Amino acid sequence: MDLMNRFQSWLELYRANQATGSDPLGVMLEKTISPTEAIINGRATILAGTNNYLGLTFDPDCIEAAIEALRLEGTGTTGSRIANGTYARHRALEQELAAFFGRAHALVFSTGYQANLGTISTLAGHHDFILIDRDCHASIYDACRLSLATTVRFTHNDPDSLRRRLEALKDRRGGKLVVVEGIYSILGDRAPLAGLVSVARSYGAAILVDEAHSFGVLGRNGRGLCEEVGVEDEVDFIVGTFSKSAGTIGGFCVSNVESFDTFKITSRPFMFSASLPPSVVAAASAALKIIVGRPELRARLRANVEFLYNELRAAGFILGPDPSPIIAVSMPDLASGVAFWRALLDQGVYVNLAVPPATPHGRTLLRCSVLAVHSSEQLRAILDAFRRAREQFQNHNGRNGTDP
Ligand SMILES: Cc1ncc(COP(=O)(O)O)c(C=O)c1O
Repeated sequence: MDLMNRFQSWLELYRANQATGSDPLGVMLEKTISPTEAIINGRATILAGTNNYLGLTFDPDCIEAAIEALRLEGTGTTGSRIANGTYARHRALEQELAAFFGRAHALVFSTGYQANLGTISTLAGHHDFILIDRDCHASIYDACRLSLATTVRFTHNDPDSLRRRLEALKDRRGGKLVVVEGIYSILGDRAPLAGLVSVARSYGAAILVDEAHSFGVLGRNGRGLCEEVGVEDEVDFIVGTFSKSAGTIGGFCVSNVESFDTFKITSRPFMFSASLPPSVVAAASAALKIIVGRPELRARLRANVEFLYNELRAAGFILGPDPSPIIAVSMPDLASGVAFWRALLDQGVYVNLAVPPATPHGRTLLRCSVLAVHSSEQLRAILDAFRRAREQFQNHNGRNGTDP
């Protein structure tokens, strides 16, 4: 079809991968057994490529809450809140989120993607400027497009780069919104929030932090990097998702801004998409209670991260700069990345293959995610699989090859 011709080279690459019988972009989980194990290609496989950081997808409290809501209120809301009504549960979850983050307001969206789309595109209009870290997630880029504001990228994790951009814009009329992430989704590194916030503040810019990968994970109470670094009072908007540490789906934004209710009547991704089903709201609410009430999960997660990050680094793999539940292992090129990914899967370990353009600097990465509920045996098996896969490469390429 002519309209799709521009994707031809991508399609060819995709088909070539499929033809090998093991396609990194089309993995089928034939049966999911637990947060850490599934049947893939007919064999029991350790899941080290999810965002299930606290392992809550199978938590009994979350499951029971979802089942009860499903029975009481049915399978779906069949429409948006503005057209078809807010369920009491939506409102209750928003009150719980606001209390958790110590903010006046919270709004729940149907996904984390929509939460970024819905907040950023509403905050910045035609004559405004959005300054984003260049490694921001696709949902933030798409939000910028939807907003019609001018998007200005600054160098990843570089407050001086942000300062230069803001300085260049200082005489331009229009609002300025700075958008960064807590933990970056591909490399797993953290934003230098104190520096970024201070630069944004000194130019009177608003700041939004997407805590998608840090909500439930960082901070004493699990409120994310803003809590961990102590800058919550300086950050205007926090966006997050229930699809990672909360183990279900949905997104949210919390804030103290007085005009917060404007989102409810102007944010298109909120207004023109069906609201979360009752069972999902109930699961998210139960997950939030666990995030508050079981800090030992975060402690276990930290210990698991330290183990795998330190062991992989000691084994000579090149990793992202900070230990975090996302451990990105560098591969020399796309072909070796795909082959290494397959070698891991053949040993019963599933990780994510991350390739350009979704990765910084065109790198190919094997993105592992560590969970609080990975056992020490599973972590050791992941490590051993990496070591063995590399041995296969060294034997195949000769020891001087470009093996990982
Ligand atoms: C940083 C970041 N923001 C937002 C999202 C979107 O979240 P969701 O998958 O809940 O739509 C993701 C998803 O991976 C993400 O990594």
